Amino acid sequence: MKLLIFGAGGFIGSNLAEHLIEQGEHEVVGLDVTADKLAGIEGPNFKFVKGNIADADLANKLVADCDVVVDLIAYANPSIYVEKPLDVVHLNFFENMKILEYCLSHQKRLVQYSTSEVYGKRTRDESYSDDHSDLVMGPVQKQRWIYASSKQLLERIIYAHGVQGDLDYSIIRPFNFVGPRFDYLVPAGSKGGPRVFSHFLSALLTGGPIQLVDGGDKHRCFTHIKDACEAFSAILENPAGHNEIFNVGNPDTNTTMRGLAKMMQSIYGELTGTHPDNELIDIDGEDFYGKGYEDMDRVPPDVTKLMALGWKPTRDLDTIFREAIQYYLDRPDLTAAIR
Ligand code: NAD
Ligand code: UGA
Repeated sequence: MKLLIFGAGGFIGSNLAEHLIEQGEHEVVGLDVTADKLAGIEGPNFKFVKGNIADADLANKLVADCDVVVDLIAYANPSIYVEKPLDVVHLNFFENMKILEYCLSHQKRLVQYSTSEVYGKRTRDESYSDDHSDLVMGPVQKQRWIYASSKQLLERIIYAHGVQGDLDYSIIRPFNFVGPRFDYLVPAGSKGGPRVFSHFLSALLTGGPIQLVDGGDKHRCFTHIKDACEAFSAILENPAGHNEIFNVGNPDTNTTMRGLAKMMQSIYGELTGTHPDNELIDIDGEDFYGKGYEDMDRVPPDVTKLMALGWKPTRDLDTIFREAIQYYLDRPDLTAAIR
């Protein structure tokens, strides 16, 4: 098969490209505006095209020339949902709709990366089920939800095409993937910016404060990027992966952000032979991200449906963060900028 990855230069894209190159079973073409995270990721079955998805001629031509389109293009950091909500709708909905249109006109299978945020706020004491959970979001004034709204509508349109019978699709809902090449590091005490792993690691590298948003009592379940890439393959290759929606997450890694901060301090200490003593400070969510921020208390995935395809997550919480921290410790070129 010939796979086309839109957003191949990002965190998931670069790891997925690496995974597919190692497997060697498919031809892979990746498009992105940047190739920084693809440095050293190469193979006879991989070709990178530098370009913008807004270049309709290029995008359309690439879709016409592949078998499966993997769409990873989006703004995916909560700080951007609050700071630039219209940019989020423009990229995550309207530009993604064009990718859907190219797939429809060329009759190509679409693997669409959505988000666990499409479940909104958790209203019942149960895990999020791919096909059964209801949706409650915060008010319009809480702009954080513009990301989930954009992804929700995109999912609904893709699903409707599936029902209509003119689209072969799979929707993947990622639950906090972490691993090498995740986001970017920031100077001590920065607000907004990247996702939580990068903030906590930046604090460990600089000795700056670890900021716990709204007290650090929110929970997340983290997923090793390798488990996530294996999930992609299971969905791609299995006949039951067609025209279905899948949670991709690890239900056994639940932690509070305060617990995560302490665990990362301990792992970092072991890996560097130091005793990190960063101050843990509480910070209000709107102070950290900006007005319009709201948060999910818990995001627990039900992965029964995906496990029925033969997949199961095998990397625990310690392994997820140990390997992601080690990746950065091995790259002084990345850490030097903030030290
Ligand atoms: P990322 O920001 O690392 O990757 C997105 C990539 O898209 C970037 O490399 C960026 O340069 C590229 N891009 C953006 N605009 C572009 C344009 N106009 N033309 C070409 N390329 C463009 O994000 P990620 O973490 O790899 O997430 C990928 C997808 O998965 C997104 O759709 C995101 O919403 C979804 N997702 C990720 C996670 C996670 O745990 N990482 C969780 C939930 C959902
Ligand atoms: C993110 C993004 O919205 C999406 O990429 C994706 O849909 C979702 O993860 C997911 O993986 O499913 P979120 O989990 O809120 O959402 O992202 P983080 O920025 O990693 O925040 C996790 C938690 O850490 C939040 O409670 C946040 O407030 C907290 N946080 C963040 C801190 O306590 N301190 C920080 O320095 C940064």
